[in-house]
Amino acid sequence: MIRETLVVTRRADGGAHLAPMGAQSVILPDGAEGVLLQPFRPSATLENLQRWPCATLNHVDDVRLFAGCLTGRREWPTCEARRIACARLACALAHEELEVERVEDDPQRPRFFLRLLARANHAPFPGFNRAKAAVIEAAILVSRLHLLPPDKVARELDALRIALDKTAGAEEEEAWGWLMEAVARHREKLRA
Ligand SMILES: Cc1cc2nc3c(=O)[nH]c(=O)nc-3n(C[C@H](O)[C@H](O)[C@H](O)COP(=O)(O)O)c2cc1C
Repeated sequence: MIRETLVVTRRADGGAHLAPMGAQSVILPDGAEGVLLQPFRPSATLENLQRWPCATLNHVDDVRLFAGCLTGRREWPTCEARRIACARLACALAHEELEVERVEDDPQRPRFFLRLLARANHAPFPGFNRAKAAVIEAAILVSRLHLLPPDKVARELDALRIALDKTAGAEEEEAWGWLMEAVARHREKLRA
């Protein structure tokens, strides 16, 4: 299974770098729990993992973090992890601490296998919400605007908007607004 998470890695200057990324659950050869991350080149997450081989996976309820990272809003409060020299998100409902076990290099999308060292819960999971799921799907579309045909993006956003209109709260509306600004900027660029 692949979970959409917020990955925190350590920058060259020691600061925290935050990026939304799919994290696939895997079992390592010795039977331990692990995670597979596959960053597309070029990627700051990839460079950070090569330099400092650890990361935290952060499970959040506030989808503005997904939309924010893709629209230039990457600064969210962090605190130190317990077992690794890496930050985690202060608002995470739960987080996992991982170290890189093995890397399979690839010119397009290297595969980082990480070992789970620790996990902690910080707040209860408040339940599913369709608007949050819609924002995450829209964020994925925004991360691929340069690859996808504009009419496909428009159709998919129209469908996602239905769930947003029916079930969003203020955070989801704000996150959606940031994403739609990015879509509008991209359309302007295509017209210019
Ligand atoms: C829900 C979600 C999942 C994503 N999963 C991946 C992924 O698995 N690999 C990847 O390279 N980019 C993924 N992206 C896009 C990255 O978040 C985006 O390209 C970001 O800028 C990563 O670049 P960085 O490592 O340079 O920060 C995802 C985006 C979203 C919204």
